[in-house]
Amino acid sequence: MLSYQHAYHAGNLADVHKHALLATALARLTEKPKPLSYIETHAGRGLYDLSGPEAQKTGEAAHGIARAETADWLPHPLRAALTAVRDRFGAACYPGSPLIAAHFLRPGDSAHLAELHPAEHAALAQVAGHARLHLQDGFAVANALIPPTPRRGMLLIDPSYEIKADYDRIPGWIARMARKWNVGVIALWYPVLTDARQQPMAESLAAAHPGALRSEVRFAPARPGHGMVGSGMFVINPPYGLEDEAARLAALFAAT
Ligand SMILES: C[S@@+](CC[C@H](N)C(=O)[O-])C[C@H]1O[C@@H](n2cnc3c(N)ncnc32)[C@H](O)[C@@H]1O
Repeated sequence: MLSYQHAYHAGNLADVHKHALLATALARLTEKPKPLSYIETHAGRGLYDLSGPEAQKTGEAAHGIARAETADWLPHPLRAALTAVRDRFGAACYPGSPLIAAHFLRPGDSAHLAELHPAEHAALAQVAGHARLHLQDGFAVANALIPPTPRRGMLLIDPSYEIKADYDRIPGWIARMARKWNVGVIALWYPVLTDARQQPMAESLAAAHPGALRSEVRFAPARPGHGMVGSGMFVINPPYGLEDEAARLAALFAAT
């Protein structure tokens, strides 16, 4: 169990898509001076070393963030977060979602990060700043916190989908969270797979939340035969401007 390690995949094209939308949403949400809550169910270690053996072994970051930066794909909010993290931790670093969020969150905001893997959780504790960390199942943590105080805010659900039943249970779980927190921005990342295993989940979500944003981009597999050929983000209550950013990213990915 818990064999997935994001260090092998950090900064890949799926991260570029997910983190571009996350940074854009948080930049928009923090424009207003009102405090907000940020919750993550699957936080990861927060900071990745792209010169380390894991990233070097797969080369996914070289085809992801390195290529996206060269081609000037990144929206301003993600570029700003990336610059701040590199200034602090070194040029070979790549921020995970918790450090991207930390770039935007202000002293009066609240952040809760769940990470179940003990080593990932310990690494996250080194860099997470003022966020509250939970070494527990992220779905249970979010369920207990929602609706949060402050009531404005965002939930990011970024599972590794090691448990195949996640695809079946996520739509019902999200429907319950959206009922409890009708003003929350609820964002789910999912892979686009060659066998289309994600499709029933994505269609069920779209049918249940007609006003939500469904952003999907396609890309070449990281290795021949690799099953992931795209990245999806489903966002309930998308902040103003997120649809435009999703359309911009879709056009860029489609042109490659
Ligand atoms: C895709 S990675 C997270 C990446 C991160 N959100 C980012 O964008 O930088 C998924 C993480 O979820 C953790 N995990 C797996 N099952 C979990 C669970 N039930 N609750 C909390 N964390 C879990 C894994 O250990 C892994 O670090």
